[in-house]
Parts: sequence; structure tokens; C-alpha cells
Amino acid sequence: VERTFSMIKPDATRRNVTGAITAMLEEAGLTVVASRRVWMSRREAEGFYAVHKERPFFGELVESMSSGPTVVQVLQGENAIARNREIMGATNPADAAEGTIRKAFALSIGENSVHGSDAPETAAQEIAYWFSETEIVG
Ligand code: GTP
Ligand code: MG
Repeated sequence: VERTFSMIKPDATRRNVTGAITAMLEEAGLTVVASRRVWMSRREAEGFYAVHKERPFFGELVESMSSGPTVVQVLQGENAIARNREIMGATNPADAAEGTIRKAFALSIGENSVHGSDAPETAAQEIAYWFSETEIVG
């Protein structure tokens, strides 16, 4: 089995849909094996998204990710990384398929409700950024 890192972003916590989003993850066959609510600092957001620091939207991204609470999660299941990306839907909700989380909840490309790791290496890094091994109960 595989693990991936997921976040329910501030635009979604603000609208009280963390349960609805988690239900969609669970219905997709993923198990939440760690979960914590965190209001990240600008510094934490900058560190987490360091890979995007040269992108034009970096400032906006850091601003919105530190604008309210986020739910950070570790998801476990068969092909968890790909399965999570599939149920999340396209980055831009205008392109997201019917039945995906972003189709149901995302407001815009910036406020797109969820994050999911895109590869095994980034999943391992992102899980370690927020969780210690003892906090993950599979
Ligand atoms: P993540 O799961 O969040 O990594 O989404 P992704 O892999 O589908 O997108 P990507 O890694 O390319 O971008 C990371 C995040 O930056 C996205 O989820 C968006 O919230 C944000 N982002 C990407 N492109 C834009 C943009 O053009 N404008 C703004 N404001 N935000 C963007
Ligand atoms: Mg990404």
C-alpha cells in the first residue's frame, strides 16, 4: 500500500466542508491515517511550497495558505497518490471533471480546496514536513 499527503485548504475550512471532502476521499478508497488542523505561518507556507517560489503566483499562494486553518492529512491505500489526484480533479476547477472534489468545491485556481502530492518522492517529503512517524497510525 502507498501513502500520500493531502491538505484541505483554508477556502474549504472557511466554508465548513472538511467533512464532506474527507468523505469523498474515503469513498475513493483512501484511509485517513493521520490528520491535524493547523493555521500555517507565512514561513511554513513558503517552506512547504518552496518548489513554486519562482512562479508568478507564489505570493498569492503563500497569502491564501496562511489566511486560515488547513487540515493536513496522510492518506493510505492502493495507488494512493494517483487515486487522490484523480478524486481531487484538475488544478483549475473550470477543467475539473464531474464527481471530483474540485468540481464540487473549488472556487478558482488559487482557491482550489485541496492539495495532493504528485509523486512518491514529494509524498515522502510532504508527509515528513508535517508529521512524525509516530503520528501516522496505519
Ligand atoms: P497541488 O495539489 O496544490 O500541488 O495542485 P496541482 O499540483 O494541481 O498544482 P500546482 O502544483 O501546479 O500548483 C500548486 C498550487 O498553486 C495549486 O493548487 C494552486 O492553488 C496554485 N496555483 C497554481 N497555478 C496558479 C495560478 O495561476 N494562480 C494562482 N493564484 N494560484 C495558482
Ligand atoms: Mg502540485
